[in-house]
Amino acid sequence: MCGIVGYIGHREAYPVVLKGLQRLEYRGYDSAGIALYDGAELKMCKTKGKVADLKTKLEAEISTKGTVGIGHTRWATHGEPNDVNSHPHYSNSGDIVIIHNGIIENYDSLKKELKTRGYEFKSDTDTEVLVNLIEDVISKEDVKLGKAVQIALNQTIGAYAIAVFNKQKPDELVVARLGSPLAIGVGEDEFFIASDASPFIEFTNNAIYLEDGEMAVVRRGKEVKIRKIKDDSLVDPYIQELQMNLEQIEKGGYEHFMLKEIHEQPSAISDTYRGRMLVDEGIIRMAGMDDNMERIANAKRFIIVACGTSWHAGLVAEYIFEDIARIPVEVEYASEFRYRNPVISENDVVIAISQSGETADTMAAIKLAKEKGAFTFGVCNVVGSSISRETNAGAYTHAGPEIGVASTKAFTTQITVLTLMALKLGKFKGTISHSDFQYHLREMELIPNKIKDSLKSDTIIREIANIYKDAPNCLYLGRGYNFPVALEGALKLKEISYIHAEGYPAAEMKHGPIALIDEQMPVVVIATKKGHYEKVVSNIQEIKSRKGKIIAIVTHGDEEVRDLADHVIEVPETIESLTPLLTTIPLQLLSYHIAVMLGKNVDQPRNLAKSVTVE
Ligand code: M6R
Repeated sequence: MCGIVGYIGHREAYPVVLKGLQRLEYRGYDSAGIALYDGAELKMCKTKGKVADLKTKLEAEISTKGTVGIGHTRWATHGEPNDVNSHPHYSNSGDIVIIHNGIIENYDSLKKELKTRGYEFKSDTDTEVLVNLIEDVISKEDVKLGKAVQIALNQTIGAYAIAVFNKQKPDELVVARLGSPLAIGVGEDEFFIASDASPFIEFTNNAIYLEDGEMAVVRRGKEVKIRKIKDDSLVDPYIQELQMNLEQIEKGGYEHFMLKEIHEQPSAISDTYRGRMLVDEGIIRMAGMDDNMERIANAKRFIIVACGTSWHAGLVAEYIFEDIARIPVEVEYASEFRYRNPVISENDVVIAISQSGETADTMAAIKLAKEKGAFTFGVCNVVGSSISRETNAGAYTHAGPEIGVASTKAFTTQITVLTLMALKLGKFKGTISHSDFQYHLREMELIPNKIKDSLKSDTIIREIANIYKDAPNCLYLGRGYNFPVALEGALKLKEISYIHAEGYPAAEMKHGPIALIDEQMPVVVIATKKGHYEKVVSNIQEIKSRKGKIIAIVTHGDEEVRDLADHVIEVPETIESLTPLLTTIPLQLLSYHIAVMLGKNVDQPRNLAKSVTVE
């Protein structure tokens, strides 16, 4: 969480840093700030609120001149979101300025020590402690900024991506990372610093992703020097060519990123399987699996670790892997798994699912699994992300950048990758027949067009949204493959409209939640033909006899449920294991329209951040 951005070079830094912050705002948006150096003066402006508020304040208060700048958009951890706690933070002398994404866990003891040496603190943040620790090292040991940052970081416990500037050495920026992402854009005599590459994509395609435990000194017009923070050893910079383009990270005519990303799902899914699924040859190619097939196929069990929406994709995968590849699967919240001394053996394959590839709990779960000898496999969207690098092997989802905080295309592309994995394994192990395998591939090929079809229900969904937008609660029910979809539908509604919603296996309703049902309660039921249809119809009857309002997601042409439900939304028919790819779509649209009608900030819902890099 928190986005950091920096620039040093020959351009005006302000527009680069400001635009960069706008692009990184998905990472946190409770306050923002920028510091600029114009060759003489180090100026700073920061404020509670959005980057747009910062722009207004900054342009009224300080000059925007300067070819060095750093900026920050915050998701508060230490200290409430207010002007003072916003980043950047100055050292006591006012010479050094820092931006930080992460948490310094031992900040309190370091602060006490610094106070005994006369340092004063204006904010409640751990970051202000770090910048003063750096200043203290410089004053005691008479070292350059890079060395001082290194010495200071070796005294800290926690996680960070930082950028530090010292006006006494105005031609350099020092950056470091441990547990939080940091990319360096390499241009012609200029450098860009950012939490991900989106802030500098229009300036350069060349990027260095720092590894955990590395720091770099970037000097105007010189080469980057990268070192290990612990032992000072030099690291050869590895410059990658970025595949991202500007169009992918802009709204493209849609009102919100979330809506754009919902509509991108047909192409995102075909991008996910293109080149992997060779239907005519009857082959699935996935390098991460091909290279490790014996190890993966001989696993005694799969453990899936993930958080939030990715955890829901993991639940869908549990059904698919057990069904098609006959491998026992456990699906764990990464945050629970990492702290409960789980039984893991060398015979386990631990699969991490993460859109960002940066989620702290998922990363820690993978590290733990590796320590215990398991083979680890990452299903990530962001190329080069921490989890994709930490795992033994993996498969990218290729969904393209997902900017809306509420995950949409990440979910469906994760399911696509996991389905391909299950089919590949099933074929290798002989647990799926050739004809069934081929049938699955052909059905998968049809999914993008079927999603396009599902998107046509937008008008009906908008009408339903208008009827139920003021409901204080909502229940989502599904069975089998559609139970995780019910959980996902409820999560979408909660996170962007702030309406309380619960997802439940439809048959479990009678063990408790049925008590909630009355004429005020909207109940969204996923009742597609493939997937325990008759049983779900009985559950619908139970809701109807208690006067609940039924919004049913049904297969095209279904008349039985139409007679029972208050509203129906149709999706095309497909095989059972692929239904989540279709039934999810109306639920995404329903939550989107309700949130818009309620005037909520769809892309940046309160209290949330896109990538949760703190535990
Ligand atoms: O980047 P990840 O997939 O690891 O993120 C996990 C969750 O934080 C994420 O899915 C979150 O639940 C989304 N906001 C849901 O829409």
